[in-house]
Amino acid sequence: MKFFIDSADVEQIRKVHELGILSGVTTNPSLVAKSGRKFTDVLKEIVNIAEDVESVSAEVLSDDVDGMLKEAEPLTAISDKITIKVPMTLEGLKAVRRFSKKGIPTNVTLVFSANQALMAARAGATYVSPFLGRLDDINHDGVELIEQISRIFVFHDLDTEIIAASIRHPLHVSQAAESGANIATLPYAVIDKLVSHPLTDQGIERFKRDWEQAQQG
Ligand code: E4P
Repeated sequence: MKFFIDSADVEQIRKVHELGILSGVTTNPSLVAKSGRKFTDVLKEIVNIAEDVESVSAEVLSDDVDGMLKEAEPLTAISDKITIKVPMTLEGLKAVRRFSKKGIPTNVTLVFSANQALMAARAGATYVSPFLGRLDDINHDGVELIEQISRIFVFHDLDTEIIAASIRHPLHVSQAAESGANIATLPYAVIDKLVSHPLTDQGIERFKRDWEQAQQG
């Protein structure tokens, strides 16, 4: 499973990129709004920082296919890494087909059912983003959805990749990996938590202490 970061904060993206584990970036309108910056400026900077990743998702907000296509023009002009994030609607599906004919990658977002994922894949989506956390919030099993989509995509030989999104904690990450997600897109706070373990910290301390004691004879 690959790691994307779910953020529009360029400093967070820079820090995670330095770790050498980053394969992509996803943004959404709420995250960009939080940055308080112009969308295209943020995207240009992200593409510059994460120059070796496979994809940087940028979401369109129009309700109709023509609006989505128009909105995507200044975004795709930034880089061929820009993946247009399209909402899971009938108009969104039409847009996916049109983008895919132009060779523009797409990420169908706000996926909450296996049928939605299947429709998106059949329309030609590069990625689908089932939202684990938001399903868990309403007492549905987000991990089970990933497993189901993964089984369907394998069974029907679909090469659309599954991005486990709306990840809230480290357990979601290992569960997504076991469930067949190709990618997990993680908020910075979760990436930080994935690395630390109290026994690692204790172990480092103990090795240092033993080493120093041995030096003192
Ligand atoms: C995915 O691409 C979305 O940006 C994101 O994962 C949404 O997560 P949230 O439910 O924490 O807002």
